[in-house]
Amino acid sequence: MPNRLRRMRRNESLRALVRETLVQASDLIYPIFVSETATGPEPISSMPGQFRWPVDQVAAVAKDVESVGVKAILIFGLPKHKDLEASASYDDDGVVQRAIRAIRAECPNLVIMTDICVCAYVPHGHCGVLNGHEVDNDSTLPILARMAVSHARAGADVTAPSSMMDQQVLALRTALNAEGFKDTAVMAYSAKFSSAFYGPFREAADSAPSFGDRASYQHDFANARHARRELLQDVEEGADILMVKPGLAYLDIILRAREISDLPIAAYAVSGEYSMIKAAALNGWLDEKKIVIETLTAFRRAGADLIITYHAKEAAIWLNNN
Ligand code: PBG
Repeated sequence: MPNRLRRMRRNESLRALVRETLVQASDLIYPIFVSETATGPEPISSMPGQFRWPVDQVAAVAKDVESVGVKAILIFGLPKHKDLEASASYDDDGVVQRAIRAIRAECPNLVIMTDICVCAYVPHGHCGVLNGHEVDNDSTLPILARMAVSHARAGADVTAPSSMMDQQVLALRTALNAEGFKDTAVMAYSAKFSSAFYGPFREAADSAPSFGDRASYQHDFANARHARRELLQDVEEGADILMVKPGLAYLDIILRAREISDLPIAAYAVSGEYSMIKAAALNGWLDEKKIVIETLTAFRRAGADLIITYHAKEAAIWLNNN
């Protein structure tokens, strides 16, 4: 006899008893943009509700998200000075390094993560340094490594290489160990696809490539097996957390990542995902709170442990009041 599945869906108490997936504020990571030239919060027009913050105001932003139960932030820097060597990225007095120190002073227990990529630090906006018009893998690695060590020295807990250079995880792990930062973790942007969903971020971080695109280093969005190879390779290189990015259109990749590794898996609900939801919500076309909780639950159901989202603060408040 076929079962009557509706029996366990009859009322909210029964549904809560058999609910398989939960999302908590402590699963969320909030990205923060910090700008060396901003004098006050600069609104990011394509991401309503998000701002570029001056260094002297980021600690207050971090404290605010921590106060609603979010345990981690991910910092992106916008330096005043860009050059071909991305030298501002590994300056101990750079914008991210100063932001880390300011936040650490106010929030001793907050997990501070930092993005490790040169795109915001070079005039051409590519994620690696150039050799002619080619993005050069092996001359980028030492820069990424110096940047990570400098962030670790400032007090970062987790460094997150996003430039998609081959062996970037190994380069960071080796340099961090050599410089005495054995406890600084590496969150690998392993399955980072070449995606139009990053559009609003490039306005936010002033990091759009001035020629060409990122297809020679980010994954082809048609390829799941290729992404799987990079996930496996990043495990071998010593990653502590594996990331899949973007999130919503890549739930199949999250599921694969979950199946091939016991490492924590992070999903990144990227700028375009945030902007799509915001735009529709601002038009009154969908219920923002319900959509956000549904999508966050979907990431967890697919196998993500952590979710990086620009909705982190609002979602934490909604989840706490549920
Ligand atoms: C830097 C980087 C990007 C994002 C995170 N790190 C942009 C890109 O690769 O073009 C995108 C984040 C988002 O869209 O929210 N390489």
